[in-house]
Amino acid sequence: MADTLGMAAQLAGNAVRFGWYSGVNWLMTREAQRLSPRPRYRPERPVPSQAELMADLRALFLADAAAVREGLYPPWEPAGGLGEHMRALGAMFADLPVLLARRQTEATHSATEHAGADGLPDYYTQDFHFQTGGYLSAESAKLYDVQVETLFYGAGAAMRRAGLKPIAAFLRGRNQRSASLLDVGCGTGRFLREVRLAFPGLALTGLDLSQAYLDEAQRHLQSLRPATLLNANAEAIPLPDASQDIVTSVFLYHELPGAVRRSVTAEIARVLKPGGLFVLVDSLQMGDRPGWDGLLEAFPVRFHEPYFAHYAADDLDAMLAEAGLVAQETAHAFLSKVMVREKRRTC
Ligand SMILES: C[S@@+](CC[C@H](N)C(=O)[O-])C[C@H]1O[C@@H](n2cnc3c(N)ncnc32)[C@H](O)[C@@H]1O
Repeated sequence: MADTLGMAAQLAGNAVRFGWYSGVNWLMTREAQRLSPRPRYRPERPVPSQAELMADLRALFLADAAAVREGLYPPWEPAGGLGEHMRALGAMFADLPVLLARRQTEATHSATEHAGADGLPDYYTQDFHFQTGGYLSAESAKLYDVQVETLFYGAGAAMRRAGLKPIAAFLRGRNQRSASLLDVGCGTGRFLREVRLAFPGLALTGLDLSQAYLDEAQRHLQSLRPATLLNANAEAIPLPDASQDIVTSVFLYHELPGAVRRSVTAEIARVLKPGGLFVLVDSLQMGDRPGWDGLLEAFPVRFHEPYFAHYAADDLDAMLAEAGLVAQETAHAFLSKVMVREKRRTC
């Protein structure tokens, strides 16, 4: 039976998140400009109009609500309370002057001073998005989710959920309880939590190089059926060959140098079973929506994203095909794209 009430709840929830985070985004931008004024970057490539962006956002929210109505996944439910959310927002504003000073001086290696940085790859120990402590501190892990949602006007969760649809299609007619899913670069576990709520029977594993982010993921998953969380490098996944039915990766690839993107893809293909599913959710690339290319040009200028320009121009289709991951579908979800691939059945 169609879950009409759930669909209405999902639409209302997304509308509230959009309104709330638009306000937070406006305040953050105004405060940043007051503390550290700088001219707005004007990209050479075209940018969409506000109306076009809003129409696309509405389409994302409608698709998200339709998926709930069809029973593909349940309506969104918060992982924490209002108090926790307000504390995270307060901490994000409190950190802004430090972050702006880092932007000003382009000193983007506070992560290297962290005790956990020893032995980690250089490409990783940078302050992505200028965030204090990079991915290594507990404070950064607590701020990450509100930072992402502020950037995406509250649409980050709905973009991640676009990755649930191919999983639902893959699992149709299969026994969830005998299937496994690995989320590579799981961060604070936001996508893993959505997967757990939608597919309670799956054996879930999350992998990330940051113990601080995994601790946060553990918190977001508490009270749900446990997932295994691995503190490891995605370039050397500590799992056997052909051990996973599904592998997912959300918002990781744009933060990897090109060569590492390829090693990680090879590892993902290695741990997938033949016929297994790979779902990659990440930013749009240049040319996906030519009228939006200016947004992709501006993003790494506004935020410290050292590998984004390479990612935006990379031939991901060829990269995935070379690793034996055969194209099923690629769909757009607002500022993201969802690439669905099947591991080749015969070598
Ligand atoms: C932009 S965040 C995305 C997190 C999460 N998937 C999400 O949807 O928000 C990138 C994550 O990838 C992790 N990461 C980056 N390079 C990695 C690597 N080589 N191996 C494992 N994790 C990595 C970071 O620690 C961080 O948690």
